[in-house]
Formats: sequence, C-alpha cells, structure tokens
Amino acid sequence: MISRQAMLMKWLSGMMGCIVIGIIGFDVEAATESMTDCIACHRERNPILIAEWEQSGHHRPALDCQTCHGTRHDGTMAAHSRRNEVCMACHARERQSYTLSKHGVIALMEGERMAYPPPSGNGEARAPTCAYCHMHRNTHRMTSTATPCQDCHSPRFVDTWFTSGRKMIAIGAMKVREAEAVVHRLVRERMEGAFKARRIHEIMTRDHLGRVRLGVGHQSPDDQWWHGQPALDGDLLRIKSILHDALIKR
Ligand code: HEC
Ligand code: HEC
Ligand code: HEC
Ligand code: HEC
Ligand code: HEC
Repeated sequence: MISRQAMLMKWLSGMMGCIVIGIIGFDVEAATESMTDCIACHRERNPILIAEWEQSGHHRPALDCQTCHGTRHDGTMAAHSRRNEVCMACHARERQSYTLSKHGVIALMEGERMAYPPPSGNGEARAPTCAYCHMHRNTHRMTSTATPCQDCHSPRFVDTWFTSGRKMIAIGAMKVREAEAVVHRLVRERMEGAFKARRIHEIMTRDHLGRVRLGVGHQSPDDQWWHGQPALDGDLLRIKSILHDALIKR
C-alpha cells in the first residue's frame, strides 16, 4: 500500500515537472540564449571544443557562440554555423578568393542542395565550404592544412598543388625583400619619396603577398595571377622608380 502511494506520488511529481517545464519552457529557451550559459553547459559536455574556441582567433568579446550558431537552440545550430554566409559576413577578402575558385563556384551553384549534416569533413558535400576546410571534423580550432583536401583529391594532386604553391609564395616574398632593401636606402639617406615608398612596401606585405597566399590556399587563380604577383611587380617597380627619381634630383 505504502509503495503504491510512493509510486503515485512519484508519477504525480513527474506530471507536475512536465507541467512546470511546459509553463516555463519559453523562459528556459530564452535562458540558453545567454553567452555564459552556452559556455558553461557545453564546457561540461565537451571541454575540448570550448578550449579550442578559446585558443582561436575567434575568442573575442564581439564574436560569441551565437555569431556563428544563431540563437535557435533547436538542433539546427551546427548546420547554421556551417553555412558559408556566416563566415563571409566577416571575412570579405577570403570571401572574394573563395568565390572565384572552382570550389566556391560549385558551392554557389549547389546552394541549398549542399547537405549540412554534422560534422563537416565526411565528404558529404560536393565542394568544400569555409567550415569544411577550417573546422574539419568538428573542431573549433581554425586549421588550414592539406588534410581536408584528401577527402576528395588524390594525395599526389594535393602535394603537387602545395609544393608549387610554396614556390609561388617564396617568389612573392623575394619581391617584398627586394623592395625592402630599396626602402631602407631611401630612409637611411633621407631621400625624397621615402615615406611614400614605405607605404607601398606596407601594402605589399599586408595585402598583395597575402593575396598570393590566399590564391594558393583557396585555389584562386585570380588572387595569384591578378591581385597577387602582378600587383607585387607593380609595387616593386614604383618603389624602384622613386629611388631613380630621388637619385636624379640629388
Ligand atoms: C543547459 C545546457 C545548454 C545550454 C545553456 C546550451 N546548450 Fe547547446 N546543447 C545542449 C545539449 C544537451 C545538446 C545536445 C542535444 C543533442 O545532442 O541533440 C546541445 C546541442 C548543441 C549543438 C549541436 C546541435 C545543433 O543544434 O546542431 C550546438 C551547436 C549547441 N548546442 C550550441 C549552443 C549554443 C551556441 C548555446 C548558447 C546560445 C547553447 N548551445 C546553450 C545543452 C546546452
Ligand atoms: C564576427 C566576425 C567573424 C565571423 C562570423 C567569422 N570570423 Fe573568422 N575571424 C574573425 C576574426 C576577428 C579573426 C582574427 C583575425 C586576426 O587574429 O587577425 C578570425 C580569424 C579566422 C581565421 C584565422 C585563424 C585564426 O584562428 O586566427 C580563420 C581560418 C577563420 N577566421 C575562418 C572562419 C570561418 C571558417 C568562419 C565561419 C565558420 C569564420 N571565420 C567566421 C572574424 C570572424
Ligand atoms: C579548400 C579548403 C579551403 C576552403 C574551402 C576555404 N579555405 Fe580559407 N584557407 C585555406 C588554406 C589552405 C589557407 C592558407 C593558409 C596559409 O597558407 O596561410 C586558407 C587561408 C584562410 C585565411 C587566412 C588564415 C591565416 O592564418 O591568415 C582565412 C581567414 C580563411 N582562409 C577564411 C576562409 C573563409 C571565410 C572561407 C570561405 C569563404 C574559406 N577560408 C574557405 C583553405 C580553405
Ligand atoms: C567561428 C564560428 C563559430 C564559433 C564562434 C563557435 N562555433 Fe561552434 N561550431 C562551428 C562550426 C562550423 C561547427 C561545426 C563543425 C563541423 O561541422 O564539423 C561547430 C560545432 C559546434 C558544436 C558541435 C556540434 C555537434 O554536432 O556535435 C557545438 C556543441 C558548438 N559548436 C558549440 C559552440 C559554443 C558553445 C560556442 C561558443 C563558446 C561556439 N560553438 C562557437 C562554428 C563556431
Ligand atoms: C568536398 C570535396 C573537395 C575538397 C575537400 C577539396 N576539393 Fe578541390 N575540388 C573539388 C571539386 C568538385 C573540384 C572541381 C573539379 C572540376 O573542375 O570539375 C575541385 C577543384 C579543385 C582545383 C581546381 C582544379 C582545376 O582543374 O582547375 C584545385 C586546384 C583544388 N580543387 C585543390 C584543392 C585543395 C588544395 C583542397 C584542400 C585545401 C581541396 N581542393 C579540397 C572538390 C574538393
């Protein structure tokens, strides 16, 4: 008799629990939209995933979980974050190089037909997306390696691509170093145009050499052969002609 009463009480309290959850359900959902909640709860579930985010360039005050995952905790958060648009909203330069690559063109054409089941990196997509390469197999660590390529290409193709890519980057870096030597001379000898030359050299390092690197990393011929190498050639020529003019005026 007592045990039956206990069972009844248990059942009743269970029912009460459901009713309470039903009533405050909306509030619980709202609560999960707070950042501290995401981190605390998910650190308990998977500490590595959270630590990876904390050690990445994405650990910033203005860039929280919801920036990538959205606010609807209904089983679609991972799928939401794997969409290219999420990453492209911030990474404008990378957006351009990717969009002009074969991968980017395929992703654009496939659009909604691209499957987004977790985790990315099982060859489920026809062409890789941003998260496919940089967050391969469910990591928050931003990786830029050749590993994902081998889901779809032969090791030899990938190896050849990156070997010639490294040479391209080395050639670009040589142009930057040559320009640097000229800038040093202009500055050391206090020649006219030194400031302007230094500005051009900055753009070479920050922008145009970066374009060559992205051209390789994102398989984008435009970045290598239009925004990259030819731009570096033009920069170097301009810096040299500044020295030339300064020497004539002396
Ligand atoms: C009270 C604990 C808790 C809080 C708070 C919480 N989550 Fe979750 N989250 C879970 C659990 C449990 C699952 C597993 C559900 C499953 O596997 O079906 C999950 C699943 C997920 C998933 C994978 C499933 C999917 O939606 O694709 C993502 C991504 C995620 N949470 C992100 C977040 C983010 C971002 C926040 C903050 C806005 C957050 N979570 C807040 C407990 C929590
Ligand atoms: C709200 C803006 C924002 C969004 C959205 C965003 N990023 Fe970033 N990303 C940044 C910032 C800021 C950095 C740090 C840049 C730095 O340190 O110079 C960064 C850095 C990176 C890096 C360089 C590695 C590192 O750890 O610093 C990669 C790769 C990257 N993001 C890829 C992605 C991918 C893939 C996505 C989409 C899943 C994405 N980003 C979404 C702003 C964003
Ligand atoms: C096919 C794989 C692949 C895809 C798809 C891809 N990336 Fe990359 N990404 C790379 C590689 C490889 C690099 C080169 C890293 C290097 O050499 O510095 C790179 C470089 C970057 C960098 C600079 C990293 C750094 O450390 O300076 C950012 C940021 C970035 N990608 C963001 C994106 C975004 C955003 C997208 C989608 C629009 C995207 N990537 C698509 C492979 C990829
Ligand atoms: C730069 C964008 C970005 C940020 C910021 C980010 N995530 Fe993610 N997260 C992703 C992507 C993309 C994946 C899916 C990777 C994959 O598909 O392999 C993912 C995967 C996850 C998963 C695993 C989903 C599963 O299927 O198991 C969880 C849980 C998660 N994120 C929670 C969080 C939490 C909590 C935060 C804040 C501390 C956060 N994420 C910050 C982009 C991000
Ligand atoms: C999810 C599958 C997938 C992944 C992952 C992938 N690719 Fe691709 N890649 C493709 C497809 C599909 C094409 C288009 C092939 C065609 O031209 O028909 C392509 C095209 C290319 C091309 C252009 C070839 C040409 O003929 O112009 C290069 C270069 C390339 N990939 C390199 C890479 C590198 C490097 C990585 C890793 C950083 C990578 N791919 C990752 C599927 C993938």
